[in-house]
Amino acid sequence: MNPYDYAPVTEEVIEELARIVGERFVLTDAEKLEPYSHDEVAGEEYARMPEVVVKPRTAQEVAEIVKLANRRRIPVTPRGAGSGLSGGAVPVHRGMVLSTERMNEILEIDEANMMVVVEPGVVTNDINEELAPLGLFYAGYPMSVETCYIGGNAAENAGGGNAINSGVTERYVLGLQVVMPTGEVVELGGKRVKDVTGYNLLKLMVGSEGTLGIITRITLKLLPLPRAQVALLVLFADTPSAIAIVPTIMTQGGVIPAAVEFMDQLSVRVTCEYLNEQLPYEQAGAMLLIEVDGSEEERVQRDYDTIGELCLQNGALEVYVADNRTTRERLWRIRRNIAEAFKVVSPHQSIEDIVVPTASIPDIMPELDRIAQQYGVQMPCYGHAGDGNLHATVVKDPDDSMDEWHEKLPRVLADLYCVVKELGGTISGEHGIGSKRKAFMSLVASEAELELMRKIKRALDPNNILNPGKIFDL
Ligand code: LAC
Ligand code: ZN
Repeated sequence: MNPYDYAPVTEEVIEELARIVGERFVLTDAEKLEPYSHDEVAGEEYARMPEVVVKPRTAQEVAEIVKLANRRRIPVTPRGAGSGLSGGAVPVHRGMVLSTERMNEILEIDEANMMVVVEPGVVTNDINEELAPLGLFYAGYPMSVETCYIGGNAAENAGGGNAINSGVTERYVLGLQVVMPTGEVVELGGKRVKDVTGYNLLKLMVGSEGTLGIITRITLKLLPLPRAQVALLVLFADTPSAIAIVPTIMTQGGVIPAAVEFMDQLSVRVTCEYLNEQLPYEQAGAMLLIEVDGSEEERVQRDYDTIGELCLQNGALEVYVADNRTTRERLWRIRRNIAEAFKVVSPHQSIEDIVVPTASIPDIMPELDRIAQQYGVQMPCYGHAGDGNLHATVVKDPDDSMDEWHEKLPRVLADLYCVVKELGGTISGEHGIGSKRKAFMSLVASEAELELMRKIKRALDPNNILNPGKIFDL
């Protein structure tokens, strides 16, 4: 039987959904469905209209919806805020989009255990706002922190600017309540820092991109809010000199910063224009935004002095120190908005998410230049240089027709991904595979590995109803 043979969403199904969640929370008008047909990936070719959107409030409602879908063989695509960058929340086989937007409560702040229990539709930044007065914070957040939902972060295993020292989402997810594709509700993990009881199903769920279960509750580990935080904006003449310093901060400087973000001139310029902000980008071909934090001010000062010195000895033009909240936030705001700025400026583009071992970052940069020249595309680049994860962005040449662009982009990506693989890297560090990179999985995953993934998918979702068409084909 074709695993992608689905039943349509009939009037009867819509009535059943309305019975489960209430009529108000079942959408069928084309106008209302449209916002649920895409995520933040640019390009109409990645969008698909759902047949219906359903907005449950509880895990029990999610379970009933999934049971109905499973019985009738209707695809269910779970959705958080839709801020994803790989098509994860797009219903590529149509059917239902299950939006978690109403499941948006912070259920418990457990100070004694330094944990928080939340529903999946909580905006990630709201967690930190709630925790700040208690001197606690959630460190796994991505750059879209102000709009994304924590459930989407867990489903995608989102990463961000602090991965170099703090890791990504998976380090902090200690417990999950999940509705399985066949409708059972399971509790995985809990408030335990250590747990080796059986297979680590919790880790399997984190980053499974909504293909193995729907997350309905999350327990997160928290950290003490750092008492001292300083950001350095370091200007370099060009990209190679900015990038060359990155591994040495850790190897020679002996400091692991909280963040080392790279921005080339085009990324800074486009974003400053978009935000109407000022940075001395005219002087600099590239910049690093380096953050150091800790519990002692003197220690943090020593560390940033060491890093600043190292940068100046290695060709930095200027080191600006942002040691108060306002200036630090100003710099981070620019950094956080680069992707959005490029999307506004050029709708035909592909944000890439390549990741290589940190020592190989200097080797990847000349390859980006080569690819840009060879294929006649622009390739601005920014990203989390400290952890080897770069957002090289392929931008359509305005002179190319759309047909030329559609023909060219897969060739550019295949070339880029092969280079990355050659360096020991892979095609996604934090955005996921979704539908966008599915065709390229076989470049980096062996047939044996892909078959293991398929076996897991078939075992957990025998009718292939949960977020079908993502990561790999069955
Ligand atoms: C960022 C997103 C695109 O780092 O991951 O800005
Ligand atoms: Zn990123």
